[in-house]
Amino acid sequence: MKIILLGAPGAGKGTQAEVISGHLGIPTISTGNCLREAVRTGSPLGIKAKEDMDRGRLVPDEVVIGVVKDRIAMDDCKKGYILDGFPRTVAQAQALDAMGVEIDRVIDLEVADETIKRRLSGRRVCEGCGASYHLDYKAPKREGICDLCGKALVIRKDDEPATVQDRLNVYHQQTEPVKAYYSAKGVLRQVEGQEKVEDTSALVLKALEA
Ligand code: AP5
Repeated sequence: MKIILLGAPGAGKGTQAEVISGHLGIPTISTGNCLREAVRTGSPLGIKAKEDMDRGRLVPDEVVIGVVKDRIAMDDCKKGYILDGFPRTVAQAQALDAMGVEIDRVIDLEVADETIKRRLSGRRVCEGCGASYHLDYKAPKREGICDLCGKALVIRKDDEPATVQDRLNVYHQQTEPVKAYYSAKGVLRQVEGQEKVEDTSALVLKALEA
């Protein structure tokens, strides 16, 4: 099955992608994680992407499309995959079509901007392995330390409040039109994000079958 997770920054795409991946046994492709890893290692891709990411702007379409094209050609994607954070523009959605990719379901996670601002202010990420935590909803066992690799937890640069507002503006202007694109194809399903992660997951898994 080929699935897209759409939604504003902080709507819970990464969280739900993990759940679906465990449920269906297919990999998650997070363009945000791919780009952050490229920034961390200082690769040419990371050097190109860093400034846009730090400011909450989208990385140019052709850069991200190249990342996805290479990734979905890998062996572990043969049975399907979950795209988390791609496509984010209509041009990116059209590029997927041009690659001959047939998407089975697009899950659009709907969460109010104010809820998102509250959620992202509590997120912490590991500077070593990139694992994601939350001060209220998913706290690490030891304060400020990653459960998985023992490195320090930090605030993601684009989670600073002013940058979160910029990311929300970019989402409303550039990504929301992607919903209409997939609605016209009959594959879009909208899910209201719930306060508890597991309540959202139950709705997401149901929407995959509907
Ligand atoms: P990316 O990493 O994709 O960031 P994003 O879309 O802004 O998404 P987030 O990771 O912030 O949120 P999420 O929806 O995954 O939510 P999460 O599950 O973490 O992209 C980063 C940047 O890369 C972009 O700004 C852009 O520059 C670039 N980029 C990436 N893809 C691109 C593309 N296709 N084109 C161009 N540029 C691209 O949840 C958020 C937090 O809330 C967590 O801490 C979670 O624990 C907590 N939480 C609390 N309650 C709940 C609940 N009920 N449900 C879910 N989570 C909850």
